[in-house]
Amino acid sequence: MMKTKCHYFNMVKRVYLIGFMGSGKSTMGRWVADAMDNWTFLDLDHFIEHKYHKTISQIFEESGEDGFREIEAKCLREVSDFDQVIIGAGGGTPCFFDNMEVMKATGLTIYLKLSPQVLNDRLRSSKSQRPLVANKSGEELLAYIAEKLNERESFYSEAEVIADGTVWEVKDFVDCIQKQ
Ligand code: S3P
Repeated sequence: MMKTKCHYFNMVKRVYLIGFMGSGKSTMGRWVADAMDNWTFLDLDHFIEHKYHKTISQIFEESGEDGFREIEAKCLREVSDFDQVIIGAGGGTPCFFDNMEVMKATGLTIYLKLSPQVLNDRLRSSKSQRPLVANKSGEELLAYIAEKLNERESFYSEAEVIADGTVWEVKDFVDCIQKQ
């Protein structure tokens, strides 16, 4: 008897891209969403800025990091209801409250992994919008990245998929998502 083959396409409703600042979550997330029919990209920081009419730096200045983390957690829960979306989380999102559990329970989590050296090279030119690193220079920045990454690695590593940021291309992400 011939067996009927079942294909379950698009079983994954949303994908969370996690990783350190400067790992390319937004750039890669946009490319991956563009490569998938009817999927969009959502940057969690942009969602927050749009909703609160403030930049991330303003929120840090006015409410401190603790205030920002409350807002971030609330917004994460809001977007965890959206469909066919690649969500670029903030670098710290997985490391506060039960955010990592929320992401794992509502979508596919992919950790975009890069070394401190590569992150340092990328962040040097894009740190001004990021309050945690905006004032760090030279060796101070590299030391901060190495220490913070070490602290956060255990959260990031809980992701279902770990993507080598120096090797993975758009098609690898798309294949990985469509294989789920
Ligand atoms: C942060 C990363 C930022 C932003 C905020 C805090 C962090 O997002 O959420 O500045 O704690 O690593 P990106 O990773 O998109 O830069």
